[in-house]
Amino acid sequence: MKNIMNAPFVEEMRKTTANMYRLGWDERNGGNISYMLDEVEVGEYLDLNNIIRTIPLGFDATAITGKIFIVTGTGKYFKNVDGDPETNLGIVRIADDGRTAELLWGYKDGGKFTSEFPAHLMSHMARLSVDPENRVVMHCHPTHTLAMNYVHELDEKKFTHTLWEMCTECIVVFPDGVGVLPWMLCGTNSIGEATAEKMKEFRLVVWGMHGIYSAGKTMDETFGLIETVEKAAQIYMLTAHLPRINTIKDEEMVELAEFFGVNYRKDFLNL
Ligand code: 13P
Ligand code: ZN
Repeated sequence: MKNIMNAPFVEEMRKTTANMYRLGWDERNGGNISYMLDEVEVGEYLDLNNIIRTIPLGFDATAITGKIFIVTGTGKYFKNVDGDPETNLGIVRIADDGRTAELLWGYKDGGKFTSEFPAHLMSHMARLSVDPENRVVMHCHPTHTLAMNYVHELDEKKFTHTLWEMCTECIVVFPDGVGVLPWMLCGTNSIGEATAEKMKEFRLVVWGMHGIYSAGKTMDETFGLIETVEKAAQIYMLTAHLPRINTIKDEEMVELAEFFGVNYRKDFLNL
């Protein structure tokens, strides 16, 4: 059996959480990541028959029974993951009943997965239904994106359009746009269901006055989506109070989308 501390997926979680913390997206225990793993690969590091304990999910995840995830722990600080992965992360398998998680590794201090696991697993199910290669769901509280929530209308067409205007590459990176939810109580099945509904259409979902979710095939893709939104939101916040002299026009966004061959939300432009 190989040493799990050397597993590439543990390494990716350590690096990503450290990066997100460094960027100021994850104060205190803010943010969470879930990453669906390959069973054969996990089997090289862990005995898959050794269930440390079971943890109730509190919702139905029958569509993904048997799937294995590495997930950040609830109440755990992203800044601490790199130094102590086994306490701050856990590897869980969705049991055959679809309502229980089997702990295979981690949460060493008796902890459990993020309180946002409903939103994560429901988002995984929603993304997998439209993209069978989806693997990662990420949530965080990026500063400028959050600031923008207080001064910009929380309308997904208008919000996406403003972000697309802020950096030339935005429409190429997230041509599918950004879904927006109003403020809702976090950690609940309701916000999970609402997020998953948006995830059928978008890889990015803003939680009004709270933060953002993203989903992707790889850690880099998922991180890069939030990074690009956050950069655009920063430009917006640096310029929103100043007279606008120049902008990227809708016709230019069409040029970009066509040149890079991306399928974009035409209904989010004003042509
Ligand atoms: P957890 O500590 O349960 O992951 O919650 C953090 C968070 O960002 C809630 O939305
Ligand atoms: Zn949060």
